[in-house]
Formats: sequence, C-alpha cells, structure tokens
Amino acid sequence: MKTLAIIGQGGHARVLADAAEGAGWAAIVLIGDTPEDPAPWPCAGSLNELLHGVVEADACLVGIGDNSTRLGIHRCLAREAWSTPRLLHPRAGTSPRARLGAGSVVLAGAWAGVGTTIGEAVILNTGATVDHDCVLGDGVHVSPGAHLAGGVRVGECSWIGIGAVVRQGITIGRDAVVGAGAVVVADVPDGITVVGNPARPLER
Ligand SMILES: CC(C)(COP(=O)(O)OP(=O)(O)OC[C@H]1O[C@@H](n2cnc3c(N)ncnc32)[C@H](O)[C@@H]1OP(=O)(O)O)[C@@H](O)C(=O)NCCC(=O)NCCS
Repeated sequence: MKTLAIIGQGGHARVLADAAEGAGWAAIVLIGDTPEDPAPWPCAGSLNELLHGVVEADACLVGIGDNSTRLGIHRCLAREAWSTPRLLHPRAGTSPRARLGAGSVVLAGAWAGVGTTIGEAVILNTGATVDHDCVLGDGVHVSPGAHLAGGVRVGECSWIGIGAVVRQGITIGRDAVVGAGAVVVADVPDGITVVGNPARPLER
C-alpha cells in the first residue's frame, strides 16, 4: 500500500487528504510540527523528518494555502526527486487536452478546459472553472467558485479570490491578488491587489 504525505495540518491539508482518499489513496499522513493529529489523518512527523528519511512516504503533496510557501516547498521536494503527483478529486475534471503540472490539485466540482496549461503546485479549488486556452503559472490559487473565461493568463503565485470572475483574454501578472467577488475586465499588473466590479486597485 503506497503512502501519500500531505505537508501541512490546516484546512487546506485536510481538504487535500479528503480528495486524495476519494481519488484512491489508501494511506495518507499529514506532515507538520503540531504533534496533535488533525483527525482523522495522523501526523507522521515534521517536514524536516520527512526530508531526512525519518518519516517514509511514496509521494508528497503540499497542502499549504499560502502560494509562495507552497511553491517553495514543492520545488524543494522536486529537487530532492520526490514524486509529487497531480490530484484530481473524483468529482472534478479536466479536458483531456488540458495540461496539469506536478503537485497541482483540482478539487470537487472544478474544471479545466481544452487547451489550458496549468503549472506546478496550483490549486483549482472547489467549483472553480478555468476555461479554454488559459495559462496558469506555478503556485497560482483559483479560489472556490471563481471563474476564468477563455484565454486568461495568470502569473506565478497569484491568487484569484473566492467567487471572482475574469473576462476572456485578460492577463494577470505574478504575485497579484484578485479580491473575493471581483469582476476583472482589465489586465492586472504584477503584485497588485484589485477588488470590486469592475475590479480596481485596492487603495491602501
Ligand atoms: C482583497 C483582500 C486580499 C484584501 O485583504 P486585506 O488586504 O486584508 O484588506 P482589508 O480587509 O483590510 O480591506 C481593505 C479595504 O478593502 C475593502 N475590501 C477588502 N476586500 C474586498 C473585496 N473582496 N471586495 C471589495 N472590497 C474589499 C475593505 O472593505 C476595506 O475597505 P475600507 O478601507 O473602505 O474599509 C481580501 O479581502 C480578499 O478578498 N481575499 C480573498 C479571500 C478568499 O478568496 N478566500 C478564499 C480562500 S480559499
């Protein structure tokens, strides 16, 4: 029986464990520094212990919501030649002509359309849709119920908030944030947070 180690002990890690169970992984352990078990999955040890072979597993997924942390750990695992599988919830789907990078997850009710390219350590969260010919960089998170129309490009580590909508052909830079419920009708530069309908940069 193969063991999947999910790095993290918070809500996202538990969502991944739940999806992995549905996808057929029989043995799942969580990896973190908190000794208490976030039931029903046991905590097998720390990331350090995993990397030094004290904790054994056949494959690893990073279950951490923060985009740059997730991508950083994912890249570290890849450098160490860990298997970092793609995870598709049994009620999620991708077109056979969509590409999904290593360590990326498609959660319940989510969909990636024809011609779409999704990078590594990406989250397509519950009920999110990414339509045809989109390009998502490594470490992107498309939150629950967010929708990207065709041909949208999203740069590395950007976060599309819950329920946001992005019009076709838009480019969102890297490390950008689209606030919950925003309607994006213009390109978003690198590192900028936009909110509202139509989405505008958040004044600080
Ligand atoms: C956009 C966002 C990142 C801003 O967070 P923040 O920097 O902590 O901002 P604050 O909560 O301090 O709000 C700053 C201002 O922006 C407004 N604002 C925040 N988020 C907004 C949103 N989504 N839409 C419209 N206005 C918003 C606030 O009302 C506040 O306005 P004020 O200054 O007039 O009072 C955050 O609100 C958000 O939408 N996050 C996405 C959450 C999400 O998708 N969760 C899913 C996880 S799976």
